[in-house]
Amino acid sequence: MKCRAVILAAGKGTRMRTELPKCAYPLLRKPMIRYLVDALKQSESVQEIIVVVGHKKEIFETMLEGEVTFAHQAEQLGTGHAVLCARPAFQDLEGCTLILPGDMPLLSASLIEDLVRVHQSSHTDLTVMTTDMEDPTGYGRILRNHAGLLKRIVEEKDADASLRAIKEINSGLYCVRTEALFQALSSLSNQNAQGEYYLTDIVEHIANKGSAIAYKAPRSDCLLGVNDLYSLSLAEAFLRMRINKQYMLQGVSMINPETITIGEEVEIEEGVVLHPNTYITGHSIIRKDAIVGPNTEVHNSTLGERVHARHSLIYDSIVEADTVVGPFAHLRDRAHIGTHNRIGNFVEVKNSTTLHNTKASHLAYIGDATMGENVNFGCGAITVNYDGVHKNRTTIGNNVFIGCNTNLIAPVQLEDDSYTAAGSTVTKLVPKGTLAIARANQVNKENYVEDYFKKRNGKKTEK
Ligand code: UD1
Ligand code: MG
Repeated sequence: MKCRAVILAAGKGTRMRTELPKCAYPLLRKPMIRYLVDALKQSESVQEIIVVVGHKKEIFETMLEGEVTFAHQAEQLGTGHAVLCARPAFQDLEGCTLILPGDMPLLSASLIEDLVRVHQSSHTDLTVMTTDMEDPTGYGRILRNHAGLLKRIVEEKDADASLRAIKEINSGLYCVRTEALFQALSSLSNQNAQGEYYLTDIVEHIANKGSAIAYKAPRSDCLLGVNDLYSLSLAEAFLRMRINKQYMLQGVSMINPETITIGEEVEIEEGVVLHPNTYITGHSIIRKDAIVGPNTEVHNSTLGERVHARHSLIYDSIVEADTVVGPFAHLRDRAHIGTHNRIGNFVEVKNSTTLHNTKASHLAYIGDATMGENVNFGCGAITVNYDGVHKNRTTIGNNVFIGCNTNLIAPVQLEDDSYTAAGSTVTKLVPKGTLAIARANQVNKENYVEDYFKKRNGKKTEK
């Protein structure tokens, strides 16, 4: 039988001490709640995802629009109250409901499936996923009766020293018969240390009226709850190494892997070498035998086979095979660099394309340009693409040589095989095979320096 899933994400996340609501906070540049939504989408037993939102709800509504059903909790009165607020999203009370706190991003689809399977095969009203934690601080503790059966959950703030010593904790993940859930919720009270309607109190209620079991997960690491920036860093480190390990086993070399961050949607082929402090995130693809890093960010970009990119930023761009990027290059906003190019030191390329064997080796700005093959874009040359109101395009043909410190005032075109002289400010078409010189002629004034000092009645002094 399929079930509905309810994710609780209405809280502010006070312990995070950040403006952004906790469940929207990114890990490896992906919002925390997205990990849960993605895991639920992969779970075959989930038919619908309901997200309870409240604090800064617009952020979630925009992020997950069309993917989930929203329920609203105007005032955050506790996790039990949050689930009650999801009631209008239920057309009926059939089947069972999965409940997930929005702050457990390490949860996997397979663990969700395990819980549903255990719940359904046990024919029980409620199954709580628990685990033993080395350090249970902050979690609700699991109390069992003398026969070892689940009795109730006690929140840490309501627990005395002996209860706090219990290592078995509530993960916050539940699978519950929907009818029993809403019956139990209607009896909640907020008479506790935090004055909140605790979802955890349904356990005692259901255990007394029907049946409730604990399903203890064999590993605790996937059940980490993120409540502050420290636990966020632990979750991120865990995710990072989980992803990196997979890549290393598939033939991707990593030097200092704990400093390398790879997002979940990234694809990296074998033979790639990643150096320290490299971030590859978003929908990025790194093809065979590319070398990336050190100190390089690649986001929503594709690097072709044998590309070598170091000390550089590459966003929303494509770099074709055998091209060298960096050190200290910046590609962004749909830069598309051809094969065997060189985009070197302090070169920025924005919304521009190049073909085979084009080079901009040092200190250049290439913005809104279309370039052919075998172009040499000299040191210090720039496209002057912005007139203060509009962005204009520069079009450069094949085999063009742009002299050092050329200003290409767009819109402007340089046809195939043309040259510009160093220091030129080019405002007009440069026809095929033509050299454009657009700079003042040199004037030499003989003895000027000596005359100048004489006129000032002084001497040229030595320092
Ligand atoms: C909760 C559990 C605790 C468990 C732990 C696991 C309760 C009372 N406690 O504690 O037993 O060990 O998770 O990580 O359930 N939320 C709302 N509305 C509210 C309050 C919270 O939507 O009014 C949401 C939060 O945004 C968050 C989730 O519920 O995503 C859990 O809330 P949080 O405050 O993190 O609960 P914990 O103290 O971690
Ligand atoms: Mg929490």
